[in-house]
Amino acid sequence: MDKNIKQKLEQAGQDQVLRFWDQLTSAEQSQLASQLQALDLVQIQQLVDEYVLHRPQLHIPSDIKAAQVYPYRAQTPEHKTLYAQAHQQGLNLLKDGKVGAFLVAGGQGTRLGYEGPKGEYPVTPISKKPLFQVFAEQLLAHSHEAGKAIAWYIMTSDINDGPTRAFFQKHNFFGYDASAVFFFPQGMMPAFGLDGKMLLASRNSLALSPDGHGGSLRALHRSGALADMRRRGIEHLSYFQVDNPIVHTIDPLFLGLHDLSGSEMSSKTIAKAHALEKVGNFCVADGKLQVIEYSDLPEHLAKQTNPDGSLKFNAGSIAIHALRVSFVERLNEGGQLHLPWHRAEKKVNYINDAGQLVKPDKPNAIKLEQFVFDAIPLAANPIVYETDRSEEFSPVKNAEGVDSPHTSRRDQIHRHARWLRSCGCDIPAKGDEIDATIEISPLYAANETQFRRKHTQVRHIKPGEHVYIE
Ligand code: UD1
Repeated sequence: MDKNIKQKLEQAGQDQVLRFWDQLTSAEQSQLASQLQALDLVQIQQLVDEYVLHRPQLHIPSDIKAAQVYPYRAQTPEHKTLYAQAHQQGLNLLKDGKVGAFLVAGGQGTRLGYEGPKGEYPVTPISKKPLFQVFAEQLLAHSHEAGKAIAWYIMTSDINDGPTRAFFQKHNFFGYDASAVFFFPQGMMPAFGLDGKMLLASRNSLALSPDGHGGSLRALHRSGALADMRRRGIEHLSYFQVDNPIVHTIDPLFLGLHDLSGSEMSSKTIAKAHALEKVGNFCVADGKLQVIEYSDLPEHLAKQTNPDGSLKFNAGSIAIHALRVSFVERLNEGGQLHLPWHRAEKKVNYINDAGQLVKPDKPNAIKLEQFVFDAIPLAANPIVYETDRSEEFSPVKNAEGVDSPHTSRRDQIHRHARWLRSCGCDIPAKGDEIDATIEISPLYAANETQFRRKHTQVRHIKPGEHVYIE
């Protein structure tokens, strides 16, 4: 064992992770040593004091106000002019190769109950394309329109990096230019027992998990992705999560609005489905735009209404952002990413002093994560732009019920039915449900504007019919 690490572990009061060291083979010793080397043990000690041994007081600002939002459809002449300019600006940025796509796919997908990387999950109604393919094909359509391949940054984590790369290789990158794809793993954090000690998952391995999507902002720096962006002349990132098959991976209007307003970090919002929907809330608090998680927004505020009965805090966060590359560089200045950590009590399997595996039946550990939206209050001129839920948000998070494969399939069909209707096609319906299975390949059209330009010849769909447009 490197003397230096041993000493740092002792100083941090964490040398219990070496208790099986002498019984390990040299390969096992190097595995544990490399996990320890990747950790900043001085920082770990501070985090244990601040977040594990003490439960940080939740700071609820006293003056929480609703955030100002750019509306989905321009209503006023000023907005109409601005949106037209913004759309053109977005297209110019894409043509000039100044936009990169940024997918965060390092999470564990526990709720969905799928073993492999979540992006492998088949989601589309007819062709059963996996999430990764849906995004790749959308980006191909936008690259085609821009006249050049959009560089695509994909954040994985140690739990799915190898399988994710292998999946892309196996499928020949779904037709995407492999030289435009940059994979990189995010950082990992150890789970701590309630006594602040790092847990072992086995004799030669810490109980590690990804450090949250906020860790993406550090991983962009450490992996060399930011340097790659500089080489390619990329100025903005279009950020999206792996779980939403109807996300617009690239939205020229949103990107243009972000750029024209000088924003360092912009976000999309949708009107919440109900007061207590489990999405973050865009608010202005302590004079700063920020996202307050559903679990942290006091219920009486979440339920507050305007005189017309609408919800006062109605701007839900759907985790779609535009980020300036220079902002991400700034956040990493001095080698530390200054975002807060969030503490969660979880059940984590670990091995006890006798070397036996323990599977707890109640939370026994603290996990720490950083959240990407905590960067918003640090950004200059952050903006929020509204979009339409049915057009852009139907994530696959749970195996059943809300935000499940079933609801997402239904919403994909509804969206594509709407695009077809707008071109004059008759769509059969039974009550609120579409009585047909419809899928439009992103290679045919990645959004309604591209779809209308294609002048589809599909004019009538029969009840129960399966229609795949590619
Ligand atoms: C998240 C947001 C919530 C938002 C919702 C929209 C948080 C805490 N909340 O909720 O405000 O309304 O999405 O869908 O984020 N990921 C990583 N690495 C990690 C952790 C997550 O890459 O270490 C990725 C996942 O792969 C996934 C995304 O981040 O793509 C979302 O993570 P998840 O933990 O599922 O967030 P939600 O609780 O669904």
